[in-house]
Amino acid sequence: MPSLTDGVGSALRRSVRGLRRRLLPYSDYNRTIPPEILDDEFYEVMLSLARTAAVDTVLEIGSSTGEGSTRAFVEGLKDNPRHPRLFCMELSRPRFDQLVRRYGGDPLIRCYNVTSVPLDRFPTEAQVVDFYQTQQTQLNRVPLSEVLRWLRQDVHYVGRLGPGQNGIRMIKEENGVDTFGIVLIDGSEFTGPAELDEVYGAEYILLDDIGTYKNLANFERLRHDAAYRLTATNSALRNGYAVFQRSDQATGRVEASAAAATAL
Ligand SMILES: C[S@@+](CC[C@H](N)C(=O)[O-])C[C@H]1O[C@@H](n2cnc3c(N)ncnc32)[C@H](O)[C@@H]1O
Repeated sequence: MPSLTDGVGSALRRSVRGLRRRLLPYSDYNRTIPPEILDDEFYEVMLSLARTAAVDTVLEIGSSTGEGSTRAFVEGLKDNPRHPRLFCMELSRPRFDQLVRRYGGDPLIRCYNVTSVPLDRFPTEAQVVDFYQTQQTQLNRVPLSEVLRWLRQDVHYVGRLGPGQNGIRMIKEENGVDTFGIVLIDGSEFTGPAELDEVYGAEYILLDDIGTYKNLANFERLRHDAAYRLTATNSALRNGYAVFQRSDQATGRVEASAAAATAL
């Protein structure tokens, strides 16, 4: 039977925990989350692309613990005759630790505990509020106060890494990559547009959450770019996904017109 002192002790522990939570901002990044792209249509598209695409590199932005999209890439790449290298990026330390436990021993996989883009590439609160109030998207199913809490915790967590860390550029430099073969953009809700700037030109660009801030503008940008072709999409699967492939013919046209412009 619990004694009175046990009861007092646990009440004290609860109030200390409550006090800590109020004083130190709680961050979702301090815990792991369940996999999101798992055994669904997007997972299958990713698996089959990883198996067959004529590419040498894959960049995954937002690997989490490695049980979702990472697993699709890893399974598919095993059968790819070009043996492409997979670069995984995950900001949250506990998720990254599990990712490394899962795949750290594979010589073709490198995991990075970094932010994809630096703090100054995040939108301001005013920009997020404006997006929320002017565009009817799946994000409106979440209260604005919660969306702003996500933004603040991103800024807080990334801020601890120092202001200048640019994970995508770091991976390119360290590994001698100019343009990636396949890129999945599925990191922070707020950095999709900045990430696309960094990987533009990749052979395949995969977007998760095309119905929210993360990849809505990216979806529109790629859809209107003649250098890319939409090869798969489903706006009804979770918050929607899309796959774009660079169209070499169109790229040829762009390069030709750029050359003509330079010659003028
Ligand atoms: C939607 S989840 C990824 C889900 C995963 N692709 C799956 O299939 O299960 C987004 C992940 O991006 C990570 N993330 C958030 N901000 C990031 C940043 N700035 N750089 C890299 N990763 C980030 C989060 O910690 C989170 O684990």
